[in-house]
Amino acid sequence: MEDTKTWFSEWFNTTYYHTLYKNRDNAEAQKFIKNLVTFLKLPIENTILDLACGKGRHSIFLNSLGYTVIGADLSENSIEYANQFGNSNLKFMVQDMRKPFNIKVDAIFNMFTSFGYFDDDNDDIKVLKNIENMIATNGVAVIDYMNVNKVIKNLVKSETVTRDNLDFKIKRHVTNGFITKDIDLSDQGKEYHFQERVKAIDLEKFKSYCTHANLKINHIFGDYNLSEFDSETSDRLILILSK
Ligand SMILES: C[S@@+](CC[C@H](N)C(=O)[O-])C[C@H]1O[C@@H](n2cnc3c(N)ncnc32)[C@H](O)[C@@H]1O
Repeated sequence: MEDTKTWFSEWFNTTYYHTLYKNRDNAEAQKFIKNLVTFLKLPIENTILDLACGKGRHSIFLNSLGYTVIGADLSENSIEYANQFGNSNLKFMVQDMRKPFNIKVDAIFNMFTSFGYFDDDNDDIKVLKNIENMIATNGVAVIDYMNVNKVIKNLVKSETVTRDNLDFKIKRHVTNGFITKDIDLSDQGKEYHFQERVKAIDLEKFKSYCTHANLKINHIFGDYNLSEFDSETSDRLILILSK
């Protein structure tokens, strides 16, 4: 193996990550955002924090709808990329979501499984405490997570996904409470290995986390059309939170 990158967050910065997930791209993200802002009745003058914004696809779309948006992510590369889309109402910052932020916003969106990366549950709770601290009194937060019950029940242990003539050889397993995806591919004679590792946080565990962070769960949805959550059948676990 010539190039082995095992730390998950390096994976998010690669073009390979975006190639593999290209079918879950902007159209889906934009439909979800529209459904959310309509449901939440967010006034256009609101400021929204896109927490763990990656390259900023949700931030950019929210800003195009008229909102003032701050996108924050740990990855300097992603923020550097996102910055090219910045304007007076769209700012990006490098920030670890576990560390205190010095901002107040009307809404916080944490999208597309951008949670559950940390070994220590206290780190997950720190993120939620930051959220509680950053939303205004009547503010709202959205956590868009996978439905781990369904993922684990239907775990495809091994498959090859082909995108843009690249074969992504994917192996999945659940170990020590984490759903791990090992991804191997070969490109132009070079071998690559990446890993995604996300904690199996189910609704019960989120409820306990939210209690620790003084957040209330007001609504629970199961997909991007905001259908009711069903732990057996829903693809997503989408939480609408407030103080
Ligand atoms: C699955 S990607 C999703 C990105 C974006 N929300 C989207 O939907 O395109 C997860 C993101 O979380 C970021 N991330 C991981 N750990 C983080 C941390 N401690 N603080 C802030 N961002 C983090 C990664 O850099 C990555 O951009």
